[in-house]
Amino acid sequence: HPSNLQREESCVLGRGNCRAKGGAPGFKVAILGAAGGIGQPLAMLMKINPLVSVLHLYDVVNSPGVTADVSHMDTGAVVRGFLGQPQLESALIGMDLVIIPAGVPRKPGMTRDDLFNINAGIVKTLCEGIAKCCPKAIVNLISNPVNSTVPIAAEVSKKAGTFDPKRLLGVTMLDVVRANTFVAEVLGVDPREVDVPVVGGHAGVTILPLLSQVKPPCSFTLEETTYLTNRIQNGGTEVVEAKAGAGSATLSMAYAAVKFADACLRGLRGDSGIVECTFVASQVTELPFFASKVQLGRTGAEEIFPLGPLNEYERSGLEKAKKELAASIEKGISFIHK
Ligand code: NAD
Ligand code: LMR
Repeated sequence: HPSNLQREESCVLGRGNCRAKGGAPGFKVAILGAAGGIGQPLAMLMKINPLVSVLHLYDVVNSPGVTADVSHMDTGAVVRGFLGQPQLESALIGMDLVIIPAGVPRKPGMTRDDLFNINAGIVKTLCEGIAKCCPKAIVNLISNPVNSTVPIAAEVSKKAGTFDPKRLLGVTMLDVVRANTFVAEVLGVDPREVDVPVVGGHAGVTILPLLSQVKPPCSFTLEETTYLTNRIQNGGTEVVEAKAGAGSATLSMAYAAVKFADACLRGLRGDSGIVECTFVASQVTELPFFASKVQLGRTGAEEIFPLGPLNEYERSGLEKAKKELAASIEKGISFIHK
């Protein structure tokens, strides 16, 4: 049928041999959950990214409309839409990077773990598709609870025999983006000049900003440290409450997702010195997964950096974070083996 899903087919008078055949230099990127609150602005921002030559937009609803809309932007990437489970494999074949914001968001009063029952199954299905169709793709997993969905994704690919710990990256960039913003406010500087490492995981006390390692070097009073740590750890809840039932962070998340995806693509291209925080399989602590700074390269997270010196406040935060993280990781792993 006349496809409004595939732009090159919709151009019935096309003279061919143009970049719309996917020939532009760049990477092939799929967004799974592309019609959602995060997915839509993320699709728009990835369409602008010059490193992207092909953009696949997959969802179980509304992807044709989002695809038609985004495909009219006069930027280089070719956009193709995919609707529903029968088109998942077509969406994934040949992808270099798969970004996953599929799943339900929180409402006021919920924890991220309250999303587990619905989102675990969604992530499992999508990751089975990735293991089958593009096992070498870098995966950026956004769906909550990240502390459990990343272990789920790992177990799925282990079962399929395709697991590569360097290529499975839980997206914690929003915590870094928030930390940079809030720290810059306290310091009275431009947030673009601030770099705050945030380690651990992506929920409540597992979000551990390392304020002793802020760049440029600075110091904080105990009052400032407590305020900033609480604000960063509760940034997601701040947005959920402000949206009052209409979902969680979407716009700042799409910005953070693109910032992180762009870093992954620059790494894939072979740029050096790309370092970002992400939740990965790790030996930095005794836990099997942990968020910390990693070096991104042609094969994903090529080096995982140790946490560095922590002050007493951070050491105590680390113990709390590890306790909660251990349970969330175990919950994800056992979901696949139950
Ligand atoms: P949303 O409900 O607006 O959008 C989710 C989209 O996923 C919908 O379009 C829905 O149709 C789609 N979807 C559902 N099941 C699917 C499936 N099986 N396959 C493909 N797509 C499917 O939600 P949102 O606000 O975009 O949030 C999405 C997820 O991202 C939530 O789990 C949320 O908690 C999480 N999130 C994570 C972070 C982070 O920092 N990692 C930040 C914000 C939100
Ligand atoms: C966030 O940090 O904004 C996301 O994890 C969404 C949420 O539920 O808080």
